Amino acid sequence: MTSATPEEVRTTALPPGPGAPVLWQTLAWMSRPGAFLQGVHRRFGDPATIRTYWTEEPMVLFSGPDAVREVFALPAAIAPAGQSWEFVRPFAGPHSILVIDGDEHLRERRLLQKPFHGEQMRALAPMIGELARSELATWRGRVNTLERMRRLTMEIMLRVIFGARDEREFMRLHAAVDDALDGVRSLPRVLSMVLVMKDLGPRSPWGRFRIAVERFDALLYELLAQRRREPDDGASVLSLLLAQRDEDGNPPTDRHLRDELVALLVAGHDTSAASLAWAFERLARHPEVQARLRAGDPAHLEAVVKEALRARPALTIAPRRLTEPVTVAGHALPAGVHVTACLWLAMRREDLWPQASVFRPERWLEGAPPSPLSWIPFGGGVRRCAGAPFAEMEMREVLRAAAPLTLRPVRAEGEHARRSALVVTPDRGGEVLVER
Ligand code: HEM
Repeated sequence: MTSATPEEVRTTALPPGPGAPVLWQTLAWMSRPGAFLQGVHRRFGDPATIRTYWTEEPMVLFSGPDAVREVFALPAAIAPAGQSWEFVRPFAGPHSILVIDGDEHLRERRLLQKPFHGEQMRALAPMIGELARSELATWRGRVNTLERMRRLTMEIMLRVIFGARDEREFMRLHAAVDDALDGVRSLPRVLSMVLVMKDLGPRSPWGRFRIAVERFDALLYELLAQRRREPDDGASVLSLLLAQRDEDGNPPTDRHLRDELVALLVAGHDTSAASLAWAFERLARHPEVQARLRAGDPAHLEAVVKEALRARPALTIAPRRLTEPVTVAGHALPAGVHVTACLWLAMRREDLWPQASVFRPERWLEGAPPSPLSWIPFGGGVRRCAGAPFAEMEMREVLRAAAPLTLRPVRAEGEHARRSALVVTPDRGGEVLVER
């Protein structure tokens, strides 16, 4: 496979974009990602090219449905997505669904997606509702919903996905996960680890991280051995994963299960917490939507979830790094660049979403449903979020549990988006005032 040199990437005419220094674009991308992307779109249209330290090569953003379709249909051999998750490899493992591509990825995806469909998954909803109600029962006065949702979605992850049974098991797993995630959540720490990536003793960042992962793995293997002895019959996603069989009828190995659980944790925790915090941030500024939510119409609840994911997607892009030159929507792009469906811009286009900046769940209840290529908070193609049905179900259960609360904004103006590791979060933590 040919890969362009940095020189070739620089000299091929890319779609227009800001001429500001890379450092400036990186700061804007991190601190005000929504405003930055919208500004780029206003000035340069679709597609546009940005340059940040996030990726070594420029990133070309597409947001129109036809181009988005083309990006999602690019073959994995030409536009792998695994490379974009490279920084999670030290924790996720070399065979994690997040970092592999091609046939190996498709095989893994078939296995991992199964538990997230159908009756088996719906059976997990009451447990999520119960966990949500006990968290929300503690809400009074000023609440930082992002912090609370990080806590709740971690609890859901460990109890409903990992299947932690009692308090002791839960607390031990929680402590081990916190230690290991600490290593991949903080960008400066990841960068310093990647630079060094050798064990300079237990006090170096890499050494500390390795120890945390080893401790976490040991605990997880203990859990797997216990569950193989005493299965919990569909009461957790883990039990469904344990029951899976590959094409030759073989059960999963411990290492395989470990990598699957870590992929779900890395991809599914911060994203769900951020999406729920945004939903609360929006709801607090829309008492009319809260009033309707209280009436308990399931179609409206679903519309609120879809609209929150549209107006404030937790991930702004679905990137693919080109290994060969490709033409997307008539634009010739060299190998090396990252082509991305820009989730944030696709769901902000006025031509597809009238009054796109307004949070209006009613739009989902009127007229024809929008094209699946313009509502893409979960990305698309063979890399579309494997946990999307679970994520939507989780959001529905939490918001249903929150319906009896009256939420007010701490400040009238909406919160800005800012980047926090992988995801985009409300910059004041989705603060709300809770009245009962
Ligand atoms: C509202 C919350 C969530 C959002 C907004 C979200 C969004 C996304 C996006 C945009 C991608 C990349 C898609 C692409 O490149 O085209 C992705 C991948 C993924 N997500 Fe989610 N996600 C959420 C929750 C979850 C949950 C709860 C789980 C699991 C329990 C999960 C598991 C995964 C996995 C395994 C992948 C990798 C799929 C692959 O590479 O084939 N996500 N997610």
